[in-house]
Amino acid sequence: MTDGGFTLADRLPADYFTTTLHADVRDGLGSAPRTLPPKWFYDKRGSELFEQITRLPEYYPTRAEQEILTRRAPEIAALTRATTLIELGSGSSRKTRLLLDALTATGTLRRYAPLDVSAPALEEAGRAISRDYPGLTVSATVADFETDLALSDEPGPRLLAFLGSTIGNFDAEQRGAFYRTLSHTLSSDDVLLLGTDLVKDPEILIRAYDDAAGVTADFNKNVLHVLNRELGADFDPDLFDHIALWNPEFERIEMRLRTRTAQTVKIPDLDLTLDLAAGEDLRTELSCKFRRDALTAELKEGGFTVRHWWTDPAARFALVMAVPNLKRL
Ligand code: SAH
Ligand code: TRP
Repeated sequence: MTDGGFTLADRLPADYFTTTLHADVRDGLGSAPRTLPPKWFYDKRGSELFEQITRLPEYYPTRAEQEILTRRAPEIAALTRATTLIELGSGSSRKTRLLLDALTATGTLRRYAPLDVSAPALEEAGRAISRDYPGLTVSATVADFETDLALSDEPGPRLLAFLGSTIGNFDAEQRGAFYRTLSHTLSSDDVLLLGTDLVKDPEILIRAYDDAAGVTADFNKNVLHVLNRELGADFDPDLFDHIALWNPEFERIEMRLRTRTAQTVKIPDLDLTLDLAAGEDLRTELSCKFRRDALTAELKEGGFTVRHWWTDPAARFALVMAVPNLKRL
């Protein structure tokens, strides 16, 4: 028996907010089209706004994934008999409780290891889970899964969950690099559980990213508040419109912030002055949508074999169970 408890380790480099944020903003805003990397959405307010998004009537992915987990968690627990549940981009860990319940019922689980770039979200979720699951060791890590995928070397089998279709926020090239790193990090008895949103009617998709109450617009604009606070920038979020576009070629939603008027923005910490033309877009986020065959193929290429493909009854979302390909000797 373990004696439970909660720990939080901060593995972000000490200069993360200076070096990484500075470089991201300088490179992104200086390129054409101008982009801002999405991980900077998730300060405390950003994480709270995302949690509100998951409860919106238009934002079906959370409920669809929850339906699948509700139905399949016992099977997942029986198939994996995991001793450790690792979760990337865990956020509020709300859906994760379905996995924790099933793995606790099976009696194999000892440890939950959530990893997220948002320290406030991790701290709140981790403490709550530690309280609600006595006997479970909760070791949370603040880290950037794009650059730091080091996983605890607990005895396996480990189940690595990456839910919420956060994988879709990477483009194809980033996904390839991510799968390859992950497949080398996992052992042969570890299992990947990947939540992916599926291609569907663009009207439904667009509404999921442009809700009537404007919560997604606030979430999108929150990144400008982050830049104002962290870099002393003078973005006026009210001068931007939130745009969610369907890109049929790449089958992805693209989130943008479009300036209504020509404007000049100063970013003193970067010694940068930005001249934006009226109607110019900053691209803030991608949300790629998936098809079974292409996803199976890209996972194969990245070092994973798909073992199970589960969808909700309406086939809006898929939960994929995959294992590392047999390692070559
Ligand atoms: N898994 C939750 C939250 C999804 S939102 C759900 O399904 O509802 C995406 C989460 O990933 C946020 O909590 C965000 O803080 C985290 N995240 C985004 N980019 C990240 C990065 N590069 N490294 C670590 N965490 C990241
Ligand atoms: N992983 C979520 C998704 O792609 C993230 C997300 C939902 C998001 N709504 C958003 C990101 C709005 C930026 C803006 O569905």
